[in-house]
Amino acid sequence: MAAVVETVDLHKSFRDGDVQIDVLRQVCFTLAAGESMAVTGASGSGKSTLLNILAGTLTPDSGEVYLTVAGQRLAWHSASTNQRTRTRRRHIGYVHQFFNLIPTLTVAENVRLPGRLNRRRDLDARALELLRQFGLEQRLHVFPETLSGGEQQRVAVARALLLQPALILADEPTGNLDQANSRQVADLLFAAAQASGSALVVATHSEQIAARAQHRLRMDA
Ligand SMILES: Nc1ncnc2c1ncn2[C@@H]1O[C@H](COP(=O)(O)OP(=O)(O)OP(=O)(O)O)[C@@H](O)[C@H]1O
Ligand SMILES: [Mg+2]
Repeated sequence: MAAVVETVDLHKSFRDGDVQIDVLRQVCFTLAAGESMAVTGASGSGKSTLLNILAGTLTPDSGEVYLTVAGQRLAWHSASTNQRTRTRRRHIGYVHQFFNLIPTLTVAENVRLPGRLNRRRDLDARALELLRQFGLEQRLHVFPETLSGGEQQRVAVARALLLQPALILADEPTGNLDQANSRQVADLLFAAAQASGSALVVATHSEQIAARAQHRLRMDA
């Protein structure tokens, strides 16, 4: 299978006053279509930083990221902001650690949104089907603020799956769920990624979730 994402010697540090924190040091991996990778490590070890670089919302200090979508291999680390925005909208599904649901849109509208942004009204039916699978069929027309953390998390996962994107980035996608819900959401996430041939990167503190992935990147090893 062709690589969807490749990184070469990624480095990223942040400055905190006089102190430089080296968050990413020489991160190298390749992930092919249909493959999954768990990113694990203590809080603050750089999991979300790595996912943001893969999403193209943060640039590395040095190193390279290549993203292959729609048959094109992009030098993602040096792509223009415009190209990154366009490519992200079409080809990347992102489950943010803190959900990032749009507060002024209903649950159903949030999940339809990636389709609408890509002029894919035909995906509205898939949005409803995903919401049904996630047990949210009773909550379609409410606003995110009225949902529990776990419900919001499921909406965010459904939204990321809508387009069957080349790359799915999931930042602690079960961090707010109880055991049973966590297992169910992980089942749906891994199965949907596999079914759509997406490369899946999951940042997690859960050994059970990490064990489902084919590959493992340990951030504090
Ligand atoms: N924009 C920023 N400016 C300064 N420091 C930052 C910035 N973003 C992240 N950091 C620092 O980089 C380190 C890694 O943060 P990151 O959010 O990637 O960790 P994480 O592994 O996702 O943690 P958690 O498990 O708590 O979500 C932390 O020390 C954090 O304070
Ligand atoms: Mg994080």
